Amino acid sequence: MSDVEICRWDQLASSPERDRLSGDIDHVFFSSSLRQSFDSADDRATFRERWLGRYLKHFPHLAWVARDATQRVVGYLVGSLDDPARDPLFSDLPFFAHFRTLTPRYPAQLHVNLDAEWRGRGIGARLIDAFAAQARAAGAPGVHVVTSRGPRNFYLANGFMERGALKNDDVELLFLGREL
Ligand SMILES: CC(C)(COP(=O)(O)OP(=O)(O)OC[C@H]1O[C@@H](n2cnc3c(N)ncnc32)[C@H](O)[C@@H]1OP(=O)(O)O)[C@@H](O)C(=O)NCCC(=O)NCCS
Repeated sequence: MSDVEICRWDQLASSPERDRLSGDIDHVFFSSSLRQSFDSADDRATFRERWLGRYLKHFPHLAWVARDATQRVVGYLVGSLDDPARDPLFSDLPFFAHFRTLTPRYPAQLHVNLDAEWRGRGIGARLIDAFAAQARAAGAPGVHVVTSRGPRNFYLANGFMERGALKNDDVELLFLGREL
């Protein structure tokens, strides 16, 4: 059992604590990231914008946060609903072109991260359930994640299946899709 509350990010829009909560999300993002060093502040900001910022900006209603008993954000999920391989917003991510035959069937996408001390308690699964229900209600036929092999088993346990892969040099990306 975990004692966190899951709620939609846009429902906290008028919270006086919003800036602090936003800082909590950034903390979870940067501490969970495989990348831990940046050439400059601009480089760091670009990285944040690519994997977090644009989702919060364009799709705040699709973002979910997990807050602990002190109201600190200890995990989040951001996502979108429309096929990213055909959305100019994501044209900077070349792997979508590679997966463009799969994205129409699994157009919704998500990114989920938790603070290290809150992992393994089912919170990631709860965040995915919340987003999946929302995406289904909005008419999305499926949802996908593009990820490395590391978290694969977590997604398989949450109803995703491996639908495609992309190997470049030593980097392997998996396309994991789940029907909604
Ligand atoms: C991946 C993540 C969101 C899962 O959330 P969670 O709340 O820890 O997951 P749950 O408690 O719902 O499920 C845990 C299950 O997933 C597995 N799992 C979780 N993260 C894993 C990982 N990085 N690699 C392999 N398995 C993982 C656990 O082994 C566990 O399986 P089990 O129940 O059979 O033991 C979270 O662990 C996390 O933020 N990890 C670091 C960042 C990351 O990898 N984010 C995803 C990027 S695509």
